[in-house]
Amino acid sequence: MTENKTRKFYIETYGCQMNFSDSEIVASILTAEGFQPSNSLVDTDIVLLNTCSIREHAEDRVRKRLHYFRSLKKKNPGLTIGLLGCMAERTKTALMEEEQLLDLIAGPDSYRHLPGLLEQVHSGKKAIDTILSADETYADINPVRLDSNGVSAFISIMRGCENFCSYCVVPYARGQERSRDAESVIREAKSLFIQGFREVTLLGQNVNSYHWSNGNSEVSFPKLLELVAQVNPLLRLRFATSHPKDLSLEVIRVIAAYPNICKAIHLPVQSGSNKILDKMNRKYTREEYLEKIRSVRSLIPGCAISTDIITGFCDETEEDHRQTLDLMKAAAFDYAFTFKYSERPKTIAAEKFTDNVTAEVKERRLREIITLQQELSSASNHRDLGETFEVLIEGESKRSDKQYFGRNSQNKALVFPKTNQKPGEYLNVKVKRVTSATLIGEAV
Ligand code: 5AD
Ligand code: SF4
Repeated sequence: MTENKTRKFYIETYGCQMNFSDSEIVASILTAEGFQPSNSLVDTDIVLLNTCSIREHAEDRVRKRLHYFRSLKKKNPGLTIGLLGCMAERTKTALMEEEQLLDLIAGPDSYRHLPGLLEQVHSGKKAIDTILSADETYADINPVRLDSNGVSAFISIMRGCENFCSYCVVPYARGQERSRDAESVIREAKSLFIQGFREVTLLGQNVNSYHWSNGNSEVSFPKLLELVAQVNPLLRLRFATSHPKDLSLEVIRVIAAYPNICKAIHLPVQSGSNKILDKMNRKYTREEYLEKIRSVRSLIPGCAISTDIITGFCDETEEDHRQTLDLMKAAAFDYAFTFKYSERPKTIAAEKFTDNVTAEVKERRLREIITLQQELSSASNHRDLGETFEVLIEGESKRSDKQYFGRNSQNKALVFPKTNQKPGEYLNVKVKRVTSATLIGEAV
């Protein structure tokens, strides 16, 4: 392995926060074996693309990127190119055959084997490992924080997903659901706090079904939230993503009880029509969803609620679409991530249903959803005018070195003139103006 000590690696990450967290695990595994992290594509021996398969568009971006790497490899034939993550898992050897330039393919549960796989590539063979595991959680790996602002960090608390929403590739790309050892989660949160971090986001595909036991004690998600919240009152806590069917009153009460658990819940609804929700295998109705929203709003005053919406799923009619718009208004979402349905191979929807909403109709419905959400987000921001929020300073604003950028508990971005405080410190900011995406204020 001594040769590795001079080999540099560069990771490019696509997709969700979970993938960004995985790249930090990969960086940790490789540095422990003597590889050197590089922050430049031109000054590296190994390029790793940590990929996403959630929509066809996500995969298209990676394929385009691979074309660019072809030219890099022409200039530097010794360059190793590896594909990691969900697309590696989904396509396995197919992509290696299709894209002759790939040297290595490793799925999300194979990262511990990367040093050995890279060794194999170094000795002239292609390497592939896409075996999914029932128990890998990388619990003992202390992630190397990449692109860090030194203030906020991700902690992965579980892997995989077993919900099998009919449109979704994740259960196939990331395998069985498994929860990480609670003690290792707390240790990581404590260590981050000591290093100066002031915000952690607990990550999993469905954090509400977190469950860990070591024989003596059982830790559920609300218990884990409490344990992390107790690490230090100055450590803010966020989490993503919650499945509406599993968001319990107990979790809502814990969020309300701890000032350092952020008052922001991401609760993907996907559709406002019961017919479509059933077809998506979401296991809740619009009425049940709205009831959860009511509980959140009454038990956690001022809590922000964001969501994900897919438009144009199989058999979605104008009436179904109207119900989605109607639910958006009733829920008064503060923010929404919106997507056109994209059929993914192997999923229940791909096998059983027809992708029968035309591209034009998907496009038009998406536009209507985005327009409505802009109105809802703007109304939400205007409600904050004149309010004062506790803001965690994350760093300088991108637009001006005279301004700081930070977030309030509701996860809204605030920009305000610099004060004597430093990134990682809290201060109260009064909102003076709002734009569509940012609150502009002044320290008070
Ligand atoms: N097509 C479009 N959007 C999808 N999502 C998941 N699968 C698909 C798909 N096949 C969206 C969902 C999910 C978010 C992460 O991505 O809204 O919550
Ligand atoms: Fe993309 Fe889903 Fe994989 Fe995250 S888990 S990288 S969103 S496919």
